[in-house]
Amino acid sequence: MKRALITGITGQDGLYLGELLAEKGYEVHGLVRSASGERYDAVVDAVPSATLHVADLTDPMSLLRSLDTAQPDEVYNLGGISFVGSSWEHASAIADVTGKGALNLLDAIRLHVGDDMERIRFYQASSSEMFGKAQEVPQHERTAFWPRSPYGVSKTFGHFMTINYRESYGLYASSGILFNHESPRRGPEFVTRKISRAVARISLGLEDSLSMGNLDARRDWGFAGDFVRAMWLILQQPVADDYIIATGQTHAVRDFLDLAFAAVGIDDWGRYVHVDPRFLRPTEGEQLVGDTTKAREVLGWAPTVSFEELVAMMVESDLAAEKKGL
Ligand code: NAP
Ligand code: GDD
Repeated sequence: MKRALITGITGQDGLYLGELLAEKGYEVHGLVRSASGERYDAVVDAVPSATLHVADLTDPMSLLRSLDTAQPDEVYNLGGISFVGSSWEHASAIADVTGKGALNLLDAIRLHVGDDMERIRFYQASSSEMFGKAQEVPQHERTAFWPRSPYGVSKTFGHFMTINYRESYGLYASSGILFNHESPRRGPEFVTRKISRAVARISLGLEDSLSMGNLDARRDWGFAGDFVRAMWLILQQPVADDYIIATGQTHAVRDFLDLAFAAVGIDDWGRYVHVDPRFLRPTEGEQLVGDTTKAREVLGWAPTVSFEELVAMMVESDLAAEKKGL
């Protein structure tokens, strides 16, 4: 039985990946920052067989202790502060957790495996935010990075540390450069879930307005369940490498609004949605869209959920949740 250790198991991707690996027969271990609370309970619900270890990416000893206890064959580093929008307000904290946290984990792995570098395969959750001011459209694995947010800069540090530990120490260290992926488990601060929740509440008469940022921003949005399958495939390859994971299509925030409101029978959403400068960002990623040729050819990976299906899935889930609460 293979053993996997997932940092960030309480997050959107951690829950889907934990479920996937448990289904595949893995012994799943996860890092949690606290051994109680709603997010802890969500992991227990989704992956009841998982063993959870209290640790923090900013605390190297806690990482080493968890590795020594779990003895994983595969480590998936999904932990980190992941919200770009607030990363300007806590740039230093995001550098510590999302950037240096990856280095702390790589170092803990080195200490844990000693001379036997082949004992562990490491996956780093890199991000399309590293492309920021895109130097090429679409972006592929060799496109130069130009991060436009403290989050993007921190992810770029973690990404290059992953490559550096692969090249310097022969560690099997791979990364997935993932474009936006969403689901009913998405945090409520991210734009897709913010919209699906608000639409559900507006349609039930629980709210009557939605404050938004840049409605013309475009993203390459896929379904998180598809994207965690790519993470697993990446670590099953004979040689460690980096892969773009995306749908290859972009949509504007207003397209998401169109479909989400249409799903509850509202066509003229303009009377509910207001642009509030608080949600505008100092700089934005531009023309972010992924070229997945390598993932398709090497991993045999392709997304299975369309943009339309994703929006419908999220609105339906929020409608059901809101109705339950009534
Ligand atoms: P998420 O839902 O925000 O989950 C983040 C996870 O990181 C949570 O489990 C959180 O735990 C944990 N975490 C936060 N601070 C930590 C710390 N100091 N030490 C250890 N763990 C910590 O993010 P996600 O959407 O699942 O994304 C997973 C990873 O992929 C993230 O690194 C994200 O930056 C990256 N990524 C995401 C996307 C996307 O579109 N979703 C795209 C590219 C890359 P708590 O529950 O304790 O807060
Ligand atoms: N959150 C939010 N709230 N975003 C808004 C809003 C709003 O009210 N209005 C417009 N947007 C725009 C943002 O400006 C951005 O262009 C786009 O919607 C998507 O924002 P988010 O959903 O917050 O995601 P993100 O693209 O900044 O970051 C996500 O994807 C990255 C991969 O590219 C996160 O999951 C990151 O962790 C991930 O790396």
